[in-house]
Parts: sequence; C-alpha cells; structure tokens
Amino acid sequence: MTLPYETATRAYYDDFARGYERHRRPNDPHGYHALLDELEVGLVERYGKGRDILECGCGTGLLLEQLAGFARVARGIDLSPRMLDKARERGLDVREGSVTALPFGDASFDVTCAFKVLAHVPQIGKALAEMARVTRPGGVVLAEFYNPLSLRSLAKRALPAGRISERKRESEVYTRFDAPWVLPRIMPPATTLEAARGVRIVTPVAAAMRVPLLGKALRRLEVALADGPLAVFGGFYIAVLRKSEAST
Ligand SMILES: C[S@@+](CC[C@H](N)C(=O)[O-])C[C@H]1O[C@@H](n2cnc3c(N)ncnc32)[C@H](O)[C@@H]1O
Repeated sequence: MTLPYETATRAYYDDFARGYERHRRPNDPHGYHALLDELEVGLVERYGKGRDILECGCGTGLLLEQLAGFARVARGIDLSPRMLDKARERGLDVREGSVTALPFGDASFDVTCAFKVLAHVPQIGKALAEMARVTRPGGVVLAEFYNPLSLRSLAKRALPAGRISERKRESEVYTRFDAPWVLPRIMPPATTLEAARGVRIVTPVAAAMRVPLLGKALRRLEVALADGPLAVFGGFYIAVLRKSEAST
C-alpha cells in the first residue's frame, strides 16, 4: 500500500532524477558530494566487504555501484521509478519499494544501509525496524540521519531552499532532522549502537569545498574527525546499529 507522503516523495524524486548527478562524480570528483560519498561508502566497506548488502533508497545507484565493487551481493530498493531507471542503466540489481515495507525475507543481508533517505520518512521507527528485520543476526544496520545539531542544519535554516529542477525546490519534500540523542527512542530493540560516523562536521556550506586551499583543508579535517567524538555534530550522522546474535 502506498502512503500519501510516499506519493509526494516519489513525484519529487522522479522530478529530481534528471539533474540529481549534476554536481556529483564524475562531474565533480573532488567536490562536496564526492566527500560525502567517500565517507558513506567507506563505512559500508568496513562492515560489508565480501558480504551481502542492501541499500535502501539507492536512488540512481551512485553509491550502490561502488558497494557492488566489494560486496558479494549488492541490492537496492527505492521509491522512485525514474531514479531507479538510472540505477538500472548502471546494471544494478534494484527494485521499486519502500524502506517501510522491504520486499525481502527476514535475515537476508549482512549489512543494510540508508543514506540521505530516512530524513524523508515520517514513519522512521518502522523503517529502522524493517532494516533490522532483513538484517542477519550479528549483522549491521547503517542508518544516516540529518542532524539538527550541525552547521549544515544552521545553513539550511538561514539560506533559501535550493532548486532541484525548474519546477521544484528542496523545501517541497518532507524532510526531518533527528538529533543523535533521539536514537534510543527509535532504534529497534534487537540492536545496539556500536559506533557512529559524522559527515560534514566543519564544512559550513558546500561551496566552501570549491575554494582551492580551503577545500583541501576541509576535506582532510572531515576525514580525520569523522569517527571521533565530534561525530555528533556531523550534518549527516550515521549510526552503526549491530543486530544481536540472539535475535531471530
Ligand atoms: C537524496 S536521495 C539519496 C540516494 C542515494 N542513497 C545517494 O546517497 O545518492 C534519496 C532517495 O531516497 C528515496 N526515498 C525516499 N523515501 C523513500 C522510502 N520511503 N523508501 C525508499 N526510498 C525512499 C528517494 O526516492 C531518493 O531516491
């Protein structure tokens, strides 16, 4: 069953599909988005090399394509058919579906991840429960949240919403921000928070990455700080949730 907000989110991303990769690799290999991708993919590789991985909300498959390079199995699901068209052009194994009702059996993957997706899901607890359900006991859920306690969130509030197409702005899709301390309330009972990675901790605005020396310095700092105590200030906060060995 499609929920009303999903229809709106699908329409938004169907519209975004054409321009989604404009500022991403290979168009901007050392830019802001390349750094986000690198930190996200790097974390999946830490837990998922040679294993079975599901990316929820895989979009055009930019990340999934890289995951497929080191996984045993790499699959993706997404709400938007137009985003998925691009992923299929990349030859990826993807399906249409929602993270709140995953089309897979229990315990099907070692690593289940979602990047820049849960921020668009009102039923976030249900989404996390589904991600944990399809993860094998002892496996991990990598769940990324938009963090209100960050420079990114400040910039989003201070600056006008960006355009994603001629017709639509970023403000036209449901977007939520969840602080790291909310996690214990929404994470599935069968999981424990094992680690966290902060992405975009010190970069005030994405454009700063394009300033020659500053961009390099920011990139180095972001990589150095990502797994330390300042992770709680990351604009994107990735929780590593380990599913208990004892869970069914
Ligand atoms: C910002 S894009 C991120 C795509 C990819 N993860 C990446 O990092 O490039 C967000 C994606 O989440 C998808 N999405 C939003 N809500 C979803 C839901 N409930 N279930 C599955 N996918 C969803 C959108 O269709 C879109 O492709």
